[in-house]
Amino acid sequence: MALGIKALPFTFFAHLLAIAGAVMVLVWCIHFRGGLAWEASNKSLIFNIHPVLMLIGLIIIGGEAIISYKSVPLKKEVKKLIHLVLHAVALILGIIGIYAAFKYHNESSIPNLYSLHSWLGIGIIVLYGIQWIYGFVIFFYPGGSNGLRADSLPWHVAFGMFVYVLAVANAAIGFLEKLTFLENSGLAKYGSEAFLVNFTAVITILYGAFVVLSVASQGNSEDDYSYSAI
Ligand code: HEM
Repeated sequence: MALGIKALPFTFFAHLLAIAGAVMVLVWCIHFRGGLAWEASNKSLIFNIHPVLMLIGLIIIGGEAIISYKSVPLKKEVKKLIHLVLHAVALILGIIGIYAAFKYHNESSIPNLYSLHSWLGIGIIVLYGIQWIYGFVIFFYPGGSNGLRADSLPWHVAFGMFVYVLAVANAAIGFLEKLTFLENSGLAKYGSEAFLVNFTAVITILYGAFVVLSVASQGNSEDDYSYSAI
């Protein structure tokens, strides 16, 4: 598409950043924050599910779904299946992750939906769901007419990238918000945990940038039909 460069280096670094981000959020929530639990008297353990599922699910698996057209060397029909299944997994993990944040708030008598982060978060998950359903119906089953598919494709790509970039930005806001809460409760501002959280947000943003660059670059195979509406 726009960049006259092959996608391979971008998809390669995106995978590396994905692994780094996943490890960092797990180290933070398990080692520094005490672990993950669905039922617990220590309600913070319920909250910890939220950043883990939002980053590994919505952002990382969602990003891998987006770049799968560029990173997977298989036939277009197989890539399409990988794309829609990875997005479904990302969406389901995102919904469970948001549910965990509500569960934590409800069981700790903290109000819901008071922050910019939470408002954007609801908007993102709703738009992500609409985008998935529209894509499934038009491009997979039952499938729209050739004209409708061709007309829909640039909007599918543009709207998908908009929602994804918004999600990456909102994840960074989430890290900032949680770290600010912790620092206001006494966490050292220059301590190792504070650095870990800030660097996890930096890695998240870099991952998002490499996903966008992969989309804007050329597919790796000679017969690159990445964005043809077949
Ligand atoms: C794109 C990914 C994310 C989305 C869509 C998202 C969405 C949400 C939503 C909808 C809520 C509201 C829950 C309620 O009101 O009960 C929430 C709460 C929260 N999230 Fe996230 N979140 C994301 C990533 C993260 C990350 C990575 C962190 C890092 C720790 C985080 C930290 C928080 C915090 C501290 C709260 C509670 C305070 C508040 O409601 O603002 N979020 N999130």
